[in-house]
Amino acid sequence: MDESVVTPWEVEGEIDYNKLIKQFGTDILTEELLNTIKKYTGDLHPFLRRKLFFSHRDLGWILKKYEEGEKFALYTGRGPSGHTHIGHLVPWIFCKWLQDKFDCEFYFQMTDDEKFMMRPDLTLEQTHAFAYENALDVIALGFDPKKTFIFSDIDYAKTLYKISIQVAKNVTTSTAKAVFGFKNSTNIGMVFFPSVQAAPCFLPSVLKGYNVPVLIPAAIDQDPYWRISRDVAPKLGYYKPAAIHNMFLPGLEGPSGKMSASKSDTAIFSVDPPKEVDKKIKRAFTGGGQTIKEHKEKGGNPGVCTIYQYLYFIFEDDNKKIKEIHDGCKRGEVFCGECKNLLSEKLVKFITTHQENREKAKDVLDKFLLKD
Ligand code: TRP
Repeated sequence: MDESVVTPWEVEGEIDYNKLIKQFGTDILTEELLNTIKKYTGDLHPFLRRKLFFSHRDLGWILKKYEEGEKFALYTGRGPSGHTHIGHLVPWIFCKWLQDKFDCEFYFQMTDDEKFMMRPDLTLEQTHAFAYENALDVIALGFDPKKTFIFSDIDYAKTLYKISIQVAKNVTTSTAKAVFGFKNSTNIGMVFFPSVQAAPCFLPSVLKGYNVPVLIPAAIDQDPYWRISRDVAPKLGYYKPAAIHNMFLPGLEGPSGKMSASKSDTAIFSVDPPKEVDKKIKRAFTGGGQTIKEHKEKGGNPGVCTIYQYLYFIFEDDNKKIKEIHDGCKRGEVFCGECKNLLSEKLVKFITTHQENREKAKDVLDKFLLKD
């Protein structure tokens, strides 16, 4: 394990993830659970080793079911408000690993309805088109077409609607308000929408005709939807969905928030030309000193450094190397330019391969789609 490595969020960071766990009432991902996963997978995905996934609901239960011979399905999704960025890819990359290791079916929801209703600036044609752009990024990660089901809410509405209204009937307005903070000025489509995002939790069971355990890998901000889904599940005769939550990658401009698809400079997009990727990395916020002199004297702060976090969480898997970077930076011996070069090299390589696969995905898109 990584005990010797300082985790960035413990050092600093604007989001207090321990507080989030308490607030949301989720459970921390323990070493014991990680060891149970390892029993089945042989190794741990770097996102688990580095605790990018840090919290869960009922993961132990899902693994127990698996042990008893009941396979679980995976469910995650995307609100198609623009192109995919690296932050979006985190749960999807993890799902691909889980599919391989646990032989899971994978269900992927594209909420073109949600983004249309939520965003005054987007038309339905735009969110619908972005959905299928985003689907290419999912497919590019190498999912098994026989076990992967991608759907737009608009194009799969007939099936989803039947499940959604059963959920909706069991959720009061006051619960929805308390969980999502809806106001009187919120449009009524958004008030209904949580039941649409809940529907895929039960979709595998509906399609198979028997109860299927479902695990949802997703960023922690989506958890309110699973709370609603879990409340309703027993009333509808389904298993409660289990969830495993990841943290946000910081935006390129600093540690204060997540990457944003609406601010193109804050994120690396899957369709960015490699030269643009390099430029964005070179311009990114770091934890280094203002000047070389200051950096040498006082050292840098990897705890707030965007570049360090990208290396730590995704692109530098080697424990020894990441520790050298961390400690070297603090001592003022490793400079921002070196880290930026290292990250840029790795990211450009990743994006280049991804874009090749994304092109190929266009030819096989249909094999992955669920439509009514
Ligand atoms: N609401 C999510 C978003 O805005 C999209 C989404 C739908 C999703 N179903 C999901 C995300 C399941 C994670 C898991 O991005």
